[in-house]
Amino acid sequence: VSVAHVARRVVTCDPALATPGDPLSAIEDGAVVVDGATVSWVGRAVDVPPGVTVVDHGGRTITPGLVDAHTHSCWVGSRHAEYAVRMAGGDYEAIAEAGGGILSTYRAVASSSVEELASALEARLRRMAAMGVTTVEVKSGYGLEQEHEMKQLAAIRAVSGDPSLPRVVATFLALHALPPAAGGDRERYVREVAEERVPEVAERELAEFVDAYVDRQAFQLAEARLVFESARRMGLGVRVHAGQFADIGGAELAAELGASSVDHLENVAAAGIAALAASGAHAVLLPVASFTLAQASPPVRALRDAGVPLVVASDANPGTAPTESLPLALAFAVRSYGLTPQEALLAATRHAAASLRRDFTGVLAAKRAADLVVWDLPHEVAIVQPWGVSRARLVLRDGRAIHGDGPT
Ligand code: NIG
Ligand code: FE
Repeated sequence: VSVAHVARRVVTCDPALATPGDPLSAIEDGAVVVDGATVSWVGRAVDVPPGVTVVDHGGRTITPGLVDAHTHSCWVGSRHAEYAVRMAGGDYEAIAEAGGGILSTYRAVASSSVEELASALEARLRRMAAMGVTTVEVKSGYGLEQEHEMKQLAAIRAVSGDPSLPRVVATFLALHALPPAAGGDRERYVREVAEERVPEVAERELAEFVDAYVDRQAFQLAEARLVFESARRMGLGVRVHAGQFADIGGAELAAELGASSVDHLENVAAAGIAALAASGAHAVLLPVASFTLAQASPPVRALRDAGVPLVVASDANPGTAPTESLPLALAFAVRSYGLTPQEALLAATRHAAASLRRDFTGVLAAKRAADLVVWDLPHEVAIVQPWGVSRARLVLRDGRAIHGDGPT
């Protein structure tokens, strides 16, 4: 049965309909016809094909479902003590050096079961759905040792079969921190990840992407290169944490290896931006993380001028981005990074989906997935305003209501 969702504004994000004045391709008094799991028609409400049940959402706004392209949302425990220390002036890198930070969540994950991890992740995904999110990238990276990374990937896999949750895309992030069990032997750990673990993850189809935290106090270029080259050989995509604290050449490495996304970039220099622009990689901006760490913004204007496609993501994690809200990240992207509201919305829909190789979502057009949000807001620009609360009234993933009461 076909249902036409009618609303005052239907924001398609369809590049085929975009104009310089309206990059989001909005249709005033528009309609989206949903046929099962897919969109079958988009246009003006007065032109809806006959024989279709009409659901009129009145003065509300419909957009594609939001896509959160960078999260660390598979975790347990709490980092409240460390947060208080950091807010009182404690330094993130110094805390990490002393065995806190990522390693503190590692300890909580290491002593948890797959079921505990899956249930924490599931609860977060439900809260994300309530904020209009229909696709979520989820990284491992708190297990670090083989056994515990595999538990995280198993938990991610367990929730990814549930059609009542946002769609999940898994990323393997063993190079997030050196696990204590490595005994300080970086070379052996990196070699094991590159030669044994990445191939195993690929063969068992436990992740589609491999990520590495490349920074002055994290992993170095040569280490990340070994792991990324292994990922490419195995047919996996590459995403990189680069330039969060210092530019050590992560963006150039990512560009050379055909990365899908280069994330953070607070401190990326001109050469890195040029390399990104030439490679076609997406820049994933994480404004909640730089807000939490009280850092300066990334060079957004230079990235934009170079033509690098911008993505905004939540970075949902217990340390630097203690939020699950992509709309909050969009609000910060506009307020602190200077994105226009339209840029921010494209960054969390079409561009985010493309960076995850999920072009069937992030756009409202015929034959795409019926992933959409009915916002209790009169205009798409209003989505970046009501900080901290959800204004998503109905959220469909593959045509099914994952939040709110859907007519289908
Ligand atoms: O994206 N920079 C490294 N990784 C995360 C933080 C993880 C944590 O602190 O637990 C980030 O900001
Ligand atoms: Fe991150």
